[in-house]
This record gives sequence, structure tokens and C-alpha cells, in this order.
Amino acid sequence: MADIDTQNMIDQEEVLRPKMVTVEIAGKKYDVPEGITVIKALWYAGQEVIRGIGCLGGFCGACATYYRTKDDAKVRTCLACQMAVQDGMSFSMVPPFPARKAIYNIAELKDPKQDLFALYPEAPLCRNCNACTEACPQTIDVREGVWRAVFGDFKAVSEMFMDCVMCGLCVPVCIADIAPNLVALYASRVQGAHFTEKPERLEHRIKEIADGKYRDEWARVMKMNEQELAKVCAELK
Ligand code: SF4
Ligand code: SF4
Ligand code: FES
Repeated sequence: MADIDTQNMIDQEEVLRPKMVTVEIAGKKYDVPEGITVIKALWYAGQEVIRGIGCLGGFCGACATYYRTKDDAKVRTCLACQMAVQDGMSFSMVPPFPARKAIYNIAELKDPKQDLFALYPEAPLCRNCNACTEACPQTIDVREGVWRAVFGDFKAVSEMFMDCVMCGLCVPVCIADIAPNLVALYASRVQGAHFTEKPERLEHRIKEIADGKYRDEWARVMKMNEQELAKVCAELK
């Protein structure tokens, strides 16, 4: 039997073992695999995450998190499902913040640009500190958005906040007690409901649906079993 060259042997277990980094979760140190997301690190460390997990794709905004990297004093914000862990990183998920959400019936607003001041009277008190913009993980110019809302440029607000995921990280940092995301949500909803021209063909189709044009067809679809549905869909393709 030939001699085994132990010097050049590959240690499979060693090769397959993930490289670990040390992170601090809510003040306690854990070793977690390098390159995983902050959310996965929480799971890996056995943390019970019963709030703050939704899409895992950067869309729902549920996983708002504060973090700090090694040797940097600045505490930053991120969406935990979108941020990879680094050695020496510290992080904690952000608890829900009790921001006041105005209640309104959008269809009944008579002068929505003025109504903003009744619904969110703190909005014009923005002191330009820019903390909201710095806190936003979606790199939205939140401060600018608040000002545009106050000056009635709801169209610009609706476009600027298109990527807002409602994580709420811009709210606790505001020294004027404004909830910039909710002000922007109001402006965007108003823009859609009151100031954007309705697409003619969409209006037409909505009316057809309301008038019951597709009622019988819908009833037929609802009675189909899975095979029948698959057959009809294949024929449509
Ligand atoms: S605007 Fe506020 S709520 Fe929206 S993504 Fe940015 S920080 Fe989150
Ligand atoms: S954090 Fe508040 S006060 Fe500061 S810029 Fe944003 S909205 Fe204005
Ligand atoms: S879990 Fe939805 S944005 Fe992170």
C-alpha cells in the first residue's frame, strides 16, 4: 500500500467550515458566519425575532436596525435584511415608535394642501437639521421632501418617496416631532387621489367592472378546480 502524503492532504471539514466574525447583538457578543445578513445573524445567535421580519427583500421596512461598525463612533441605520455583518459590528433592532398618524378620509378633503396643516400641524416646524435624511436607509432626501410637502409640491414628494419602505427610522430622530414618512404618505396619497389625471382607459375598465360586465365570467372562474384553471391558463398563453 502506497504511503499517504498527509502533508498535502486537504482537511475537508476545515475547508467547509464557514469563516466566523464576532458581532455584538444588543450588547452581547456572538460568533456568526461571515457575509450573512444582520437578520440571519440574529437567527443564528438564537434571538427570538417576533417583530421586524417581513419580506427579507428590502421592501416591507419591518427590519429597521441601528448598527455601529468597529472603531467608528457613529451609530447608523439599516434594513437588517439588506446589510451584511462585519467583524466587530454592533447592532440592535429598532422597537416600534409611537408616531401619531392622522386619520382622514381622502375623498372628503376639500383643500388637501391646506388640510396638511390641520392634520400634521408640526410639519412646517421643520428645523432643517437633516437628521431624517441621514437616518434614511433608502437614501431619500427626507428633509427636502418635508419642505416640498409644506409648500404644496405633492407631485415632487410622491416621486421622491417612491422608495420609502415605511421603516420609520426618520421619525425618532426628528427634533420637531414630525413623522416625515407619514407627511410624505399623505402628500403622495393626495397627489394620486386629487391631482393626478386619471388614465381614461383605466376609468373605463373600472366602470365596466362596476357595471357587472365580467360578473358571469368571474363566477365561472370561481367554480373551476385546479386542473380546469391550469387548462384555461395554458390555453390563454
Ligand atoms: S423616508 Fe423614513 S420611513 Fe421612508 S424609508 Fe426613509 S427612513 Fe424609512
Ligand atoms: S429631522 Fe425633522 S426637523 Fe430635522 S430636517 Fe427632518 S423633518 Fe426637519
Ligand atoms: S424584512 Fe422586509 S425590508 Fe427587511
